[in-house]
Amino acid sequence: MTTSLHPAIDLLDTAAFAGSQPHEQFRWLRENEPVHRHADPHGPDFWVVTRHADVIAVEEDHETFSSEPTIMIADPSEELGLGDHKMMISADPPLHTSYRRLVHKEFTPKAAQALSARIGELASTIVDRVAGRGECDLVADIAGELPSSVIAELLGIPLEDGRRLYALTELIHADPAKVPEGAGTGAVLEMFGYASQVAADKRANPGQDLASRLLHAEVDGHRLDDMDFCLFFLLLVDAGGDTTRNLVAGGMQALFEHPEQRRRLQADLDGLLAPAIDEMLRFVSPVIYMRRTATRDTVLGGQAIAAGEKVVVYYGSANRDAAVFDDPDAFRIDRAPHPHIAFGVGRHFCLGVHIARVEIAAMLREVLTRLPDIEPAGPVTWQDSAFIFGPRSMPVRFTPTTVR
Ligand code: HEM
Repeated sequence: MTTSLHPAIDLLDTAAFAGSQPHEQFRWLRENEPVHRHADPHGPDFWVVTRHADVIAVEEDHETFSSEPTIMIADPSEELGLGDHKMMISADPPLHTSYRRLVHKEFTPKAAQALSARIGELASTIVDRVAGRGECDLVADIAGELPSSVIAELLGIPLEDGRRLYALTELIHADPAKVPEGAGTGAVLEMFGYASQVAADKRANPGQDLASRLLHAEVDGHRLDDMDFCLFFLLLVDAGGDTTRNLVAGGMQALFEHPEQRRRLQADLDGLLAPAIDEMLRFVSPVIYMRRTATRDTVLGGQAIAAGEKVVVYYGSANRDAAVFDDPDAFRIDRAPHPHIAFGVGRHFCLGVHIARVEIAAMLREVLTRLPDIEPAGPVTWQDSAFIFGPRSMPVRFTPTTVR
């Protein structure tokens, strides 16, 4: 084992995720305590899992490492009144399998491909809106616009509502200490209120959208009730929104910081965009962690873990593991092969992966071809979150162009 200088380990401090993920902490943990006991002032200790192989071992063994009751470090608030209802991402088989079967058709590679012309149009309209201005906020005006529109279209709700709901997801992921008391729970309840209205509306007037199909489908002989639907709705708005935004904004930040990689990419967008996106996914890792809960006593990476303990896997660390990636801190747009796990592994592997890839490619292509000299124009601020990683605002400037 290496014994590099022991940095203070605090993965609950959102400041550690401003500017970059805490790679010094992650490196020390991987090299010295790959399964590390971490204190939590608001609850029981949790285990931090930082090596690529151990993250995969946890995610592939749902019988030992359950996704219930939640994939967040904090347990769910009773105020939400969830009762026995479960969100797909926080459910184990057999419920998880039934839920996944219910929605997977909307998320196949073919379904994502069918959306690609529309996604390209939306990306182009987003750049139209800023192109003449010569400056904008890359997060709010560009990267965040597309995912909220795409998920709104999928669910069959107005695009403006998609934007408002997406602002709620920011509150849900914010550090509770940095927002007014109860703001996170309030945001979930507001989302549920909106979703209940959608449910009433789509039950009365079903359309061809995912929300209507969910409301009229059956899981094990039962229709989804209002709370089941609200949880699906929240998951889709949440998982489909800030992840993609953070990847596009964080990926652009990586290009700004690595001008020679950027030059190569812009010179051969057709050849290099796909591998560059994988490298951005590895380098940025927009989802910081997922939690599991041990269902039985077990041993992971030589460390004993007791039944009932929280086990938290850190993707940003796994994606910089030198046992898997050569020179892991280097940003190389043509890295291959690419076993990054930014979309997770196993049965909860990101449902939206194909749509996300279409969105990311459309947005980056549009920005890099239509605003080719885009560059930073001021300080970047970062999400106040230890769960979702990425910039909150990123001022940029570029030579103004007329709309096509
Ligand atoms: C860069 C973009 C994205 C990243 C990095 C990302 C990452 C992830 C990760 C890490 C997980 C958990 C996997 C696990 O536990 O092993 C996940 C699950 C999920 N993602 Fe994504 N995601 C992205 C975009 C999207 C989009 C666009 C959608 C929807 C349109 C989406 C929908 C979901 C859903 C529904 C789940 C839960 C799957 C389940 O429980 O079976 N994601 N994603």
